[in-house]
Amino acid sequence: MPPLSTLPQSVGVLGLGVSVPERVLTNADLEKMVDTTDEWIISRTGIRERRIIEEGRAPSELGIEASWKALEEAGLSPTDIDTVIYCTFTPDYPMPPSACILQGKMGIPPCLAYDLNAACSGFIFGLQNAYGLVKSGVAKRVLVVGADCNSRFTDYKDRGTCVLFGDGAGAVVVGEVEEGRGILGNCAGTDGTGAFLIHQMSGGAVNPPSADNVEDQYIRMNGREVYKFAVGVFGPAVEQALDKAGLKIEEVDLLVPHQANIRIIESAMQRFGFSPENVVINIGEYGNTSAASIPLGLDTARQQGKLTAGTVCVLVAFGAGLTYGATVLRW
Ligand code: UT7
Repeated sequence: MPPLSTLPQSVGVLGLGVSVPERVLTNADLEKMVDTTDEWIISRTGIRERRIIEEGRAPSELGIEASWKALEEAGLSPTDIDTVIYCTFTPDYPMPPSACILQGKMGIPPCLAYDLNAACSGFIFGLQNAYGLVKSGVAKRVLVVGADCNSRFTDYKDRGTCVLFGDGAGAVVVGEVEEGRGILGNCAGTDGTGAFLIHQMSGGAVNPPSADNVEDQYIRMNGREVYKFAVGVFGPAVEQALDKAGLKIEEVDLLVPHQANIRIIESAMQRFGFSPENVVINIGEYGNTSAASIPLGLDTARQQGKLTAGTVCVLVAFGAGLTYGATVLRW
């Protein structure tokens, strides 16, 4: 372990990259597949279209593309990375871990590399893991990937879920940053009493995949209950992370929320008095991309000019598990 005096004061994002598939699935497309309407989807969720990975492509290809961009932006090469955290609940395979596939393909030297499954909270959990590893001197530069291809486990006959999900990936390199910048406060939590409110009942070791349980491999969700959970934890998660950072809500420039439902985001905006300029909303273009949602939000914020050096932002996510987390950082 390095001496305390050499441990980094401030840890944050050195580079960000994203990748989404080109194929677009619109609400009009879905109207032809299930009993739904563009009007219902937009008014109940805010989603207009989502990206769907092409057949035959592996989700890790998106993760790798995003990672190359994050490295390039950080001005680093694969040999500078000493830890890989690949956040996903849709890995390429149950085994090997996607982190290993990515590490091998990118030529990252042998290192700590693992998959982290916290569903839609995955990226926040991964970022917080990375922060702890760098802050404690265990790692120097951590590649955190959030990549999910929900479409591979979506039942396109189930209108309750198929309109919601999209595919994508994002990645950041986490390392030492200029003092006062980077991650300022974290909050994370799990409530396993709601573990089965979003689930895939087969494909795991309890119900191994078989010809009889194909339908059970799809994502199923009790939407109303998850909605209540999300609205309930959103505010306290933000407040706890701000408390750890020693900041007040008035000092926040930008909210980067998990994009699950526009109404959940709007309820948080109302609670905190945020105006649309201070919030990232890209659910219309991408839908719910699970672990990719937060990095895609950061990317959108940057494109919109909302995220520049020094911007104080709160990232907040919630999802299956049930899990939730928030991170405050100065960009
Ligand atoms: O990222 C992981 C976390 N996930 C979430 O945060 C999702 C949280 N939940 C939600 O966002 C919402 O609950 C949904 C968008 C999933 C559903 O919206 P809702 O307003 O809660 O609708 P509901 O499930 O209460 O259903 C209302 C009605 C039902 O019809 P009846 O029973 O009232 O006749 C549904 O059958 O809407 C119907 N419905 C649809 N109608 C048209 C459900 N899905 C659709 C659809 N098109 N796609």
